[in-house]
Amino acid sequence: MLFPVNIQNLSKIEAAERILDFLNEKAGYVSGEEIVRHLGISRQLFFQQINDLKCSGYEIMAVPHLGYRWEPSCGRLFPVEVRKDLNTKCIGRKIYYFDRCSSTMDIAARLVCENPVEGTVILAESQTKGRGRLGRHWVSPKYKGIYFSLMLKPAVAPSQTAVLTFLAAVSVCEAINSFTGLSCAIKWPNDILLHNKKLGGILTELEAELDRVNFVTIGLGLNVNTDAQELLRTAISLKIASPGHKEINRVKLLQEILRRIEDNYFLFQKKGSAPVLDKWKNFNVTLGQRVKISFLKGHVEGRAAGIDFDGGLLVRQDNGITRKFMSGDVVHLTQKL
Ligand code: BTN
Repeated sequence: MLFPVNIQNLSKIEAAERILDFLNEKAGYVSGEEIVRHLGISRQLFFQQINDLKCSGYEIMAVPHLGYRWEPSCGRLFPVEVRKDLNTKCIGRKIYYFDRCSSTMDIAARLVCENPVEGTVILAESQTKGRGRLGRHWVSPKYKGIYFSLMLKPAVAPSQTAVLTFLAAVSVCEAINSFTGLSCAIKWPNDILLHNKKLGGILTELEAELDRVNFVTIGLGLNVNTDAQELLRTAISLKIASPGHKEINRVKLLQEILRRIEDNYFLFQKKGSAPVLDKWKNFNVTLGQRVKISFLKGHVEGRAAGIDFDGGLLVRQDNGITRKFMSGDVVHLTQKL
């Protein structure tokens, strides 16, 4: 059974991660005595913390007379690994890690009341109720993708936060391109496409008052080493797309994504949304196309004529009227050459 995720347990895991840092540093068996002495905790608390960590998916070896041993197994997204050489100032300095959870968005929503530090990342190896835009399910097979929620606290009005979704999509495309050489595209607002199939998506949730943002949570789901049989026919993974179907190093890719998000976030804070939207335009495959956009009350067809300063899609209908959409499901009726 997995450790139930609540705020109390999150802070327990956080404390227990000091044990992991120590074991990782030592790289071999370390006696319980030595750990207890080093961390200045009681034996009882130590046993509790080891137990909490095991319940959260950490495979800690315990051998009588030798002690405890933990080495980050390659291929996992353990925070000690992700933080190593990350070199960011804000994004990913605090990481909560789960072997499995319902949805990282749910955990972020519960964490809001704890006022977590900006840039906190909730990272999961798999999700049982991963969710996407427009109430869709996000398939999150274990150890195959990158699934996280990032908590930001931008000093902007709630109406200006839609741009952060674009910022995240741009950052992911930049990171993938620099790490794998593959060129992704973005379908408005935030579908990440590769060879015209869905590679990833972004879900943004807002916790705000009328004129003030408490938190923006950006959830990213990316198909990295996912095999074809685990995906819909309309989806693709980086592994499927790469020459020789080589496994991608998820830790390194995640680090690059977090670094790019930080760079673009600092750019947004300094210069506003324009530079981010300019970058988005370079990756987008929606503008200029004939589109059908479906929303709650129906659908509209027309030409995707532009993007507004706040990220809204401007659709010019055949009757000459231009309408603006802040959300909706877009289908491209023409293919961009
Ligand atoms: C979409 O394209 O519809 C957005 C998908 C977003 C999925 C991610 S996975 C991590 C985070 N947790 C969730 O439950 N959803 C987002």
